[in-house]
Amino acid sequence: MRILMVCLGNICRSPMAEGILRARAEGTDIVVDSAGTSNYHIDENPDPRAVMTVRKHNLDISKLRGRQFSSQDFDDFDLIFAMDKSNLRHLLQLARNEEDRRKVHLIRNYTDPGMDLEVPDPYYGGEHGFEQVYQMLDAAAIEIVKRHG
Ligand code: 4NP
Repeated sequence: MRILMVCLGNICRSPMAEGILRARAEGTDIVVDSAGTSNYHIDENPDPRAVMTVRKHNLDISKLRGRQFSSQDFDDFDLIFAMDKSNLRHLLQLARNEEDRRKVHLIRNYTDPGMDLEVPDPYYGGEHGFEQVYQMLDAAAIEIVKRHG
């Protein structure tokens, strides 16, 4: 099972989601990657606040590098998780057919079905936002492994 995490910049939420799910999915055949809908931070390492937050939970995402989502990702991944509704809209615009569209989900709908809740963008906030993001993504990762691991 190949899973892609998607946010706007690919330096905060989706690299955190990638590192968290990779750890939770150890020993399963889940493969995980992340990408951004924007081209703002291509080749950059994750935001230091994201790196520090997951480091407190014994994960290292410091070496990941930003890349931009492309339509090719619909062929390369089985499931594509959007962090917020803007990411979701963007992904659905890039989808080429119904099969592509079916792969795309709001990640918090795995823990809060049908609620359409978002993982808030922590980029312009403080440290606190990043820990909240961590907790949301860890709960989602546990559920993803339960269903697909
Ligand atoms: P992310 O956070 O989408 O969680 O990686 C952001 C990072 C950078 C920007 C926006 C959101 N930015 O506008 O540069």
